[in-house]
Amino acid sequence: MGEKLGEGKTKEVFYLDEDHVLLKFKDSVTAGDGLKKDEIEGKGVLNAQTSALFFRVLESAGIPTHYVSMKDERTMIAKKLSMIPVEVVARNIATGSIVKRLPIKEGEIFDPPIVEFFLKDDSRHDPLLNYSHMEYFKLMSRREAEEAEDMIKRAIKVLSDYINKRGLILYDLKLEFGRLKGNLVVGDEISLDSMRVRNPKGEIYDKDIYRRGEPLDKVKSKYSEFLGLMSH
Ligand SMILES: Nc1ncnc2c1ncn2[C@@H]1O[C@H](COP(=O)(O)OP(=O)(O)O)[C@@H](O)[C@H]1O
Ligand SMILES: [Mg+2]
Repeated sequence: MGEKLGEGKTKEVFYLDEDHVLLKFKDSVTAGDGLKKDEIEGKGVLNAQTSALFFRVLESAGIPTHYVSMKDERTMIAKKLSMIPVEVVARNIATGSIVKRLPIKEGEIFDPPIVEFFLKDDSRHDPLLNYSHMEYFKLMSRREAEEAEDMIKRAIKVLSDYINKRGLILYDLKLEFGRLKGNLVVGDEISLDSMRVRNPKGEIYDKDIYRRGEPLDKVKSKYSEFLGLMSH
């Protein structure tokens, strides 16, 4: 591997060439802005594989992503982006922070999906941003924010359809965008760490299992079962 360019809570970034990076998915799992942290052997492989699968699904639907190919089972070759430190969230069904923040009930259905922007800042618990904030902090122009909104709405539709066909339900999705030659591109990862998925009985498949303090082997078995279901 080339020079290490950076490292976050779940991935390491290495230099590959002028235009590409390697993203190596670690076995760490975190919640509560990094306060709760554990290791699950093999989790990095599962998230790398899940991400690769969903990036390919988005690419086939004409949504630009950073995905190029896999170098090994936990290392992705990706286009090098200038990352924007904003989490863009789209919600089909209410759960998580939105039901605490607003007078919205668990399970309320959003059609069209609700889109929200959050600053990636663990020390401030990822505060909600509006267009003015994003312009003030030079994160995204209003035009770019609208473009990101349009892209995540298309992405949640495509991914919901894909996941529905395999018997599960996509509640919400978080994307991180970067810029390449002035254009927005979906970067980072698309895994059970960044989306909420349940089956029709309400059984949880995503990182909420970990957030709720359930055993680590249950987290791993659900991540693994999900990848199996999504793989054909
Ligand atoms: N295509 C890309 N080009 C450059 N950096 C990327 C790309 N995709 C993701 N990254 C960066 O990889 C880093 C590590 O990811 P991660 O471990 O998820 O970090 P964090 O803990 O901040 O969420 C992040 O800083 C993210 O912005
Ligand atoms: Mg991350």
